[in-house]
Formats: sequence, structure tokens, C-alpha cells
Amino acid sequence: MTVITNVEDLRVLAQRRVPRMFYDYADSGSWTEGTYRANNADFQKIKLRQRVAVNMENRSTRSTMVGQEVAMPVAIAPTGLTGMQHADGEILAARAARKFGIPFTLSTMSICSIEDVAQHAGEGFWFQLYVMRDRAFIERLIDRAKAAKCSALVLTLDLQIIGQRHKDLKNGLTAPPKMTLANILDIACKPRWALGMLGTKRKQFGNIVGHVSGVENMGSLGEWTARQFDPSLNWGDVEWIKKRWGGKLILKGIQDVEDAKLCVASGADALIVSNHGGRQLDGAQSSIEALPA
Ligand SMILES: Cc1cc2nc3c(=O)[nH]c(=O)nc-3n(C[C@H](O)[C@H](O)[C@H](O)COP(=O)(O)O)c2cc1C
Repeated sequence: MTVITNVEDLRVLAQRRVPRMFYDYADSGSWTEGTYRANNADFQKIKLRQRVAVNMENRSTRSTMVGQEVAMPVAIAPTGLTGMQHADGEILAARAARKFGIPFTLSTMSICSIEDVAQHAGEGFWFQLYVMRDRAFIERLIDRAKAAKCSALVLTLDLQIIGQRHKDLKNGLTAPPKMTLANILDIACKPRWALGMLGTKRKQFGNIVGHVSGVENMGSLGEWTARQFDPSLNWGDVEWIKKRWGGKLILKGIQDVEDAKLCVASGADALIVSNHGGRQLDGAQSSIEALPA
């Protein structure tokens, strides 16, 4: 491909360059993928009203989000394993967001650590928090986000139990990844990706490995994370996290009007209408369909 002009070009390029297990992890939804497909289909259905003969000379997309000036009212959503799509992926994405003047959100499940990304992020540096059973670890994570001067905490509420994603199961996407013959052959065909990964020290979950006792490598990490996502997460925890954090709080994964009201009552600064990209509750309505209410 000579010139990249749109996001679809990037998708095609990623499919060519990134090992299949990581590409599929990004380009898939849970279970039947019904909600995953609805997200796109319902978005496409929206038609814009075309008005003409209005002076547009000084038009601008500048706006503010959670009290901060942005070049356009868009933020980079948190995505786990970005540093496996491309070596140091989170650092590169944070730099791009900074250049554009929009916020970047770092996932709890990132490869590059909060401290590493903080060196490159701009003013809009949001940290996304998954609540784990190990609350002492969560406290340390919140404190690390504060020390890294994150400007908002994005608390994800729609992943108390991880959605069943069939492609990941079939590809052996675990921590550590299953090194089947198919995966080894696939990686051998992606030399650009492999060289990048050889050239970086960031190859594990940087926010977790070395920060939890007993989790020193990918093997122990797999066992730890499988046990850790907390199904008991509730509004009492939101209150506790808000107090501990003390800064701007954004609640992510809201689809229902009743929950939106609870967000407001909790004192959150913003909410994100989201179904986790169709990766969690399959059968949920599309995010764009949920938004107007
Ligand atoms: C590859 C991938 C990884 C993701 N990882 C996370 C994550 O770690 N934390 C999180 O809150 N959301 C995660 N998401 C969800 C996105 O932040 C975002 O909500 C979704 O892609 C857009 O769908 P929505 O419009 O329903 O929000 C991930 C999405 C993708 C595609």
C-alpha cells in the first residue's frame, strides 16, 4: 500500500502485518457478534441534514471535555494489548493524540505502563481502571495514575465477567499466548512485527507485572487475571473509587437510562455510552441506538 488515506487502509495493513491472534482480538466481538455488527450498522443508518449557503470560513471543531480544551470532542478509547499490535503501541498512540490535541486513554490492560506512557502523553491523559478483587492493587493503581498526572480516571463498569470471544479461544489468546505450530508459523510470516517486538523491552502487561506479589511473568499473570475481574463491583465501589481518586471521574459502559441517572447521582463528571465495542454483553443494543435516551 503506497498511501494510507483512511481507517480502512489501516485495518487492511494491520491484517497483513500483525499476528493473527492479536489482529483477531481487535477485530471481533463476543458470542454471535450480533451487538458488534449492530454498532456499525446502526451508525451507518444515521443520515446528516445538508444545509447550504452558510459562511463556514471560521469553523472549528475545538471544544472542551471534562473541563479541558480539545482540538475536537473525541478521545482515544482504552484498548488492552495495544503494545502487542505494534511494539510500544500505547506510547505511539499517546504521542499521536498529543499531536492532534485530543485525550488518550490508557487501559489497565496495556503493555506500556502508566509511568512509561506519562513521559509521552499530553495534557489529556486519561487512565482506564478495571476493578480487580485485589483492592490493595487498585489503590496502588489509582495512586500511580495520580502520580503520573492523569487528568481523568475512566472507570469501566461493563466487564465484571469477561465476554466469551470465540476467535480468542480458537487462536489461543491467553497470557502467555499458546505457542501452537500455527501461531509460530503465523508470527514467522510477520517479520516487521517480530523485529519491532524484539527491539522493545515492553512485552508484558506493564501496569501489572512486577506490581503484584507473585506476578513476575506471563505464566503467573494469566492465572492472576483469570481470578481477578471482580463480579461483585457495585455503586458502593464507585463511591469509594471517586473518593480515593479525588479528580475527574468518567464512568464507562453505560447503556441504560436508569444507570445514567445513577451515574449522575454518584457525582461522576461524565459517562460513556458504550457496550465495549460489542465485546461484552452480546444482544445488547448498539451504543448509538442507546445514546439519544
Ligand atoms: C481491541 C480492543 C480492546 C479493548 N480494551 C478495552 C479496555 O482495556 N478497557 C475498556 O474499558 N475498553 C476496552 N475496549 C472497548 C473500547 O474502549 C471501546 O469502548 C469500543 O472499542 C468502542 O465501542 P463503544 O462505542 O461501544 O464504546 C476495547 C476495544 C477493543 C476493540
